[in-house]
Amino acid sequence: MDFIDLRSDTVTKPTPAMRKVMAWAKVGDDVYDEDPSVNRLQRIGAELLGKEACLFVPSGTMGNIVAILAHGGRGDEMILGNLAHTFLYEGGAAAGLAGMHPHILRNKADGTIPISAIEQGIRPDNVHCPHTRLICLENTHNRCCGRVLSPDYSDAVGELAHSHGISVHLDGARLLNAAIYLGVSPSVLTRSADSVMLCLSKGLGAPVGSILCGTQEFIAKAKRMRKIVGGGMRQAGIVAAAGIYALEHNIDRLQIDHQNAARLVAGIKSIPGLTCKANDRNEPSVQTNMVYFTVNGSALGDRTLNAAELSKRLRAQGVLANPLGSDPNQMRMVTHLDVNQEDIDTALSALAHVTRIGGN
Ligand SMILES: Cc1ncc(COP(=O)(O)O)c(C=O)c1O
Repeated sequence: MDFIDLRSDTVTKPTPAMRKVMAWAKVGDDVYDEDPSVNRLQRIGAELLGKEACLFVPSGTMGNIVAILAHGGRGDEMILGNLAHTFLYEGGAAAGLAGMHPHILRNKADGTIPISAIEQGIRPDNVHCPHTRLICLENTHNRCCGRVLSPDYSDAVGELAHSHGISVHLDGARLLNAAIYLGVSPSVLTRSADSVMLCLSKGLGAPVGSILCGTQEFIAKAKRMRKIVGGGMRQAGIVAAAGIYALEHNIDRLQIDHQNAARLVAGIKSIPGLTCKANDRNEPSVQTNMVYFTVNGSALGDRTLNAAELSKRLRAQGVLANPLGSDPNQMRMVTHLDVNQEDIDTALSALAHVTRIGGN
């Protein structure tokens, strides 16, 4: 069966055109800085994100941990949201590998952490306290429904951090979705961050890889850290070429994924028992390519129907979607370049079918 896969935008497969540039990519040994494709990707990445330098890394998780290792040390503290990917889903790497003490503050539904809370969270210069070295933001914010942090908010965090001598790292796994949503250049969203990580292997459609950008000095440090964690790659131009292709062809089309997500929300709203996660003004929270919703089995007279059961029933209909988060009734669907409008309509029909009593 050919599944409609809405589990994540990480599931995209390289197109024939992307595979062709990969097959014929110029390569060299990147640990010696001799891979022309990697070097070109790094030049393009630095320019796109408005930074001096760029480093190609195998994954978003590695980009984040390499940045954390380069920003701080054992016993230092980093401030981040309780719903940050780096806190929830990266194996505790900040503490485990960098020895950084995570100081967790509550994310609001829009993905922000109130500036006043960050300010209060910064430690005084006191022998009892760790040094606050780093603040991490996430844009778009995965667990906050793919919400977009505004340039004003990002700048305010940067200003506060820098006035205390603290650095800002931006987990921009889906930063280009945010830029497309706001209609701004990505560098507007990165200008107040000291480092930024962007994934090529999510909505942009490359099979592997992320980039990490910052000053020359920061990237030189990050490069050492990448080697230490085993991310120094050799003829990596084969995959860097896919990243270049993705940046040259797949940015503007992210708008289509956002339209498909909005279509999904409109359809979900009309299905009894399903409720899209709302923002503070009680509007459905979708801005980019992530749709979070809950299923209320009791209201449908079907007590067995929670998110895990819904996922199982959808699979039987050829649609893949995962439960996500601590609420056992919460599901997530993510749109991407391997699903089109027709697939969205098919997924909605499947949702309507499996939530009807006996529809499994
Ligand atoms: C916001 C965010 N940051 C980082 C990552 C990690 O990326 P990777 O899966 O490439 O390690 C993800 C993955 O989904 C993510 O959603």
